[in-house]
Amino acid sequence: MKRILIQLDTDDLPSSFDRVVAVDSGVDELFSYGGVTADNVESLVHGAMFTRGPQDLKHTAIFVGGSDVTAGEALFEKVQQTFFGPVRVSVMMDSNGSNTTAAAAVLCAQQHLDVTGAVCLVLGGTGPVGLRAAQILADLGAEVRLASRLLPRAEQACASISEQVPGAKITPVATSETAELQSACAGAQLIIAAGAAGVQFLSAEEREALETLKVAIDLNAVPPVGLEGIDMMDKATEKAGVVCYGAIGVGGLKMKIHKSAVARLFESNDQVLDTAAIYQIGKALQ
Ligand SMILES: NC(=O)c1ccc[n+]([C@@H]2O[C@H](COP(=O)([O-])OP(=O)(O)OC[C@H]3O[C@@H](n4cnc5c(N)ncnc54)[C@H](OP(=O)(O)O)[C@@H]3O)[C@@H](O)[C@H]2O)c1
Repeated sequence: MKRILIQLDTDDLPSSFDRVVAVDSGVDELFSYGGVTADNVESLVHGAMFTRGPQDLKHTAIFVGGSDVTAGEALFEKVQQTFFGPVRVSVMMDSNGSNTTAAAAVLCAQQHLDVTGAVCLVLGGTGPVGLRAAQILADLGAEVRLASRLLPRAEQACASISEQVPGAKITPVATSETAELQSACAGAQLIIAAGAAGVQFLSAEEREALETLKVAIDLNAVPPVGLEGIDMMDKATEKAGVVCYGAIGVGGLKMKIHKSAVARLFESNDQVLDTAAIYQIGKALQ
């Protein structure tokens, strides 16, 4: 039976990136819908649920994507609410590449550092990628510092992670003033820079002065990068005693995780591939 992936995209034009990855992941037929919202998705989900028999439902799956991660979260939730009992298909959420990128960043760091108990700073931690990287790190037992220009935003993000990860060791930090940024960086063994494209957080001099830093990951590919001196192609490149990754350096693993997660959807009809599940898929690839 053919594997059908139903791509539900919150943007008007369904992402060509997600379409290419779907094809490369072994999907036979790709049904792409744009402009999908939590309010208009129900009939599309019913179409996936009520067409094939119970034994064959695993050959149909849903992918939620689009550039608006908040809208994607609402859509992902609504898709799951539409299922009932065993009448369901597997579903994955990766709006704006947020889950696969965050999982790849943490997995790259783990190749060089035991993050459990380590002080890990996520700069730009209120964005979709940083928030998820912080969540995964907290789940792994790291001492996470989640940074924002505004403390209330960091506090709100930390509260949302604590709901997902009970007992998370996570501290909100502000980084708009130089002294605040220096205090946030002090003692950090891992820094993940997940700020908006083109936002620089640390100069090369500031980064090189961080004595405890072991791993630095910069997910921003648009110059200037978030951590000056890290090249977007860096992949486990040692610079002044620190292992560095740039956006493209992390991107290879991100692509493998994305493809593997899409393939996983077709192993059964009851999978829900959220941040934690996508991280586990990446971990299994190591
Ligand atoms: N390598 C890959 O495959 C891949 C895939 C997806 C994304 N990315 C990259 O990963 C990074 C994070 O993505 P995202 O979608 O989570 O980012 P985002 O939402 O655009 O931005 C993340 C955070 O950056 C902070 N920020 C925005 N403008 C700023 C400024 N002028 N100065 C300082 N901080 C600023 C904001 O936090 P506050 O307002 O709270 O300070 C925001 O929440 C981006 O650089 C993106 O391009 C890479």
